[in-house]
Amino acid sequence: MSGTLIMAACPTTPAAATESTRDTTPGRVTESPLRRPLVLVGLMGAGKSSIGRRLAQRLGVAFADADTEIEEAAGRTIPEIFEAFGEEEFRNGERRVIRRLIEGGGPSVLATGGGAFMADDTRALIRERATSLWLKADFETLFERVSKRSNRPLLKTADPKATLRDLMAKRYPVYAEADIVVETRRVPIEETVDKVYHAVLDHFDREATPSP
Ligand code: S3P
Repeated sequence: MSGTLIMAACPTTPAAATESTRDTTPGRVTESPLRRPLVLVGLMGAGKSSIGRRLAQRLGVAFADADTEIEEAAGRTIPEIFEAFGEEEFRNGERRVIRRLIEGGGPSVLATGGGAFMADDTRALIRERATSLWLKADFETLFERVSKRSNRPLLKTADPKATLRDLMAKRYPVYAEADIVVETRRVPIEETVDKVYHAVLDHFDREATPSP
């Protein structure tokens, strides 16, 4: 594999490139507590995309999925990008897409791929311009979820369980730097969305309350 991953320049503003998910259901929040992007981090299978989409709706802000944006910009799926260009090129593209989404983004929820927060510059950008939230799942939950699909190039190894454990060991100390940490388990998704939503509100309440 070789070459440079060419990604189409973003044809629209980031806000327009994201899905508009504003929820007009009575009783839902009308004014979002978010003032900047909320970036979901965590391992593959933690539920960043499915929870992020519902959370954005609940918060009344747009949702974007960095992996989907990368695929759209490259005109290829993530397994195809890994296969044709290798992981390093994928990471370069991932960094560019996340920077574009965060720098152009107002209040929104952004789901990132599991490796994104491991890049020092991306982590620094998120710290400076966004709020981070780690969806922390246990091994069984993650493995059950990732086993259902075969779209994760990093898990195409002789022993995917060992690979996943390895990634947990390497990444969990870094994910722990996130501003908000929410533990997730195998419970109905709406229960997890509720837990995350309240953790976000609590975080911003604490930020708004001057310490004595
Ligand atoms: C990766 C996670 C994937 C995707 C790519 C690499 C990783 O995203 O970005 O396969 O390094 O953990 P999800 O976390 O959404 O599965």
